[in-house]
Amino acid sequence: MSEIFRNASAGDAWETREINPVFARPGEATSLPRFKLPDDMMSEDTAYQLVHDEAMLDGNSRLNLATFVSTWMDDRAKQLYAEAADKNMIDKDEYPATAAIEDRCWRILADLWNVPDVSDTIGTSTVGSSEACMLGGLALKRLWQQRRRAAGLSTERPNLVLSAGVQVVWEKFCNYWDVEPRYMPVSADHLVLDGHELDTYVDENTIGVVAILGHTYTGLYDPVDALAAKLDEIQEKHGFDVKIHVDGASGAMVAPFCQPDLAWDFRVSRVNSISTSGHKYGLVYPGVGWVVWRDRAACPESLIFHVSYLGGDMPTLALNFSRPGAQVLLQYYQFLRLGREGYRKVQQNSIDVATYLSSGIAAMGQFELISRGDAIPVFAWKLAKPRANWDLYDLADRLRMRGWLVPAYPMPESMTSLTVQRIVVRLGLSRDLAELLLAAIREEVAFLENLAAPMPREKPRTSFAH
Ligand SMILES: Cc1ncc(COP(=O)(O)O)c(C=O)c1O
Repeated sequence: MSEIFRNASAGDAWETREINPVFARPGEATSLPRFKLPDDMMSEDTAYQLVHDEAMLDGNSRLNLATFVSTWMDDRAKQLYAEAADKNMIDKDEYPATAAIEDRCWRILADLWNVPDVSDTIGTSTVGSSEACMLGGLALKRLWQQRRRAAGLSTERPNLVLSAGVQVVWEKFCNYWDVEPRYMPVSADHLVLDGHELDTYVDENTIGVVAILGHTYTGLYDPVDALAAKLDEIQEKHGFDVKIHVDGASGAMVAPFCQPDLAWDFRVSRVNSISTSGHKYGLVYPGVGWVVWRDRAACPESLIFHVSYLGGDMPTLALNFSRPGAQVLLQYYQFLRLGREGYRKVQQNSIDVATYLSSGIAAMGQFELISRGDAIPVFAWKLAKPRANWDLYDLADRLRMRGWLVPAYPMPESMTSLTVQRIVVRLGLSRDLAELLLAAIREEVAFLENLAAPMPREKPRTSFAH
């Protein structure tokens, strides 16, 4: 429940919304129930004003350095968005051009991620990485079930091996699809899933291993090739053939352009599928995601549904039925508009801004970097040593007062005693804005350092949700 909601809900006045008579049209109510459908109609201008004004209380999305999701697109993109807002992605028969563009987009990604043969693969758009991860995980589960059934073995206890630092979608996946999560602890020496002690987590019931390209907490990459090498060893020793899903929510749209020599994608033969968020470093407004499989055999036929398409048959893979088609068109717009070189320039610029910011923060003296922002343009830092009168949550609060949203939060399980603060740099955070942010951080740190007594605390901290 939001702060505004909680505070205001204390009074009876919260039950109704008062409309300034200057906005209401003649004959329109000037008082409305807040939690019930109003009895009568109102003009679109009045309704617009009410929604618009309330939404003003949201933070400024460009200053929201907590989110990975695109907060800036150019005017032509906005024009396309408005033109296509009514397109439903599932109506492939009615909107065959949008369907063809969707198909083209995931093939472009398959090529970008080095599938062995683009004509023998399968992929789809989704609402975001969450749905794409679910589909990638489901395919792993089905493949494991098929293998086990064919061998006459039990399929009752599937497990998935993953870092304790995974995004919440993987907890959901394991919960919703009855898979035991086997979290490998994150520690100061093993901030990423590097294969260390992997053999004690993997067994005959392991449906797969999740590698994260761009950890949500730190921006760091799991070394996919090292994980694959460890899984090769495990197969040699124990016979378990365990595949990898790469959750490249952010990194799968950064690494191909900025770290082209890094082997994290289908060049690594154990990689079964890769997912990404088109609405993160794919540079599209929310919500669009993508998932691609190595080849047709990597995605069991039982996950595919068939819809009619131009009188023919169109295989579809999705958890949703209806969903927006406009974002898929926006993704294709960005592919055309930017090309490889444009994506490289945009992402490299964000990495340059991130490393500029992280160096500035490291130079202040009070902080120690956990990551620098040179993988994806995301970095985190901690206090070098505890301060007498303030902590990172206080710094986040002070920055919030100035409009900057820079969350502080505890690290994942097994490291929860460590609090970090994180900045996500995206297209739209220019070097000039970054300089202003650094100046704001310096000023607020000086303020906090000058406190004569600890910052007052009203109630226990609530932490940022990933
Ligand atoms: C690594 C990772 N996986 C999955 C997700 C979920 O992505 P989405 O918000 O596109 O569903 C995120 C979101 O931040 C993420 O960072």
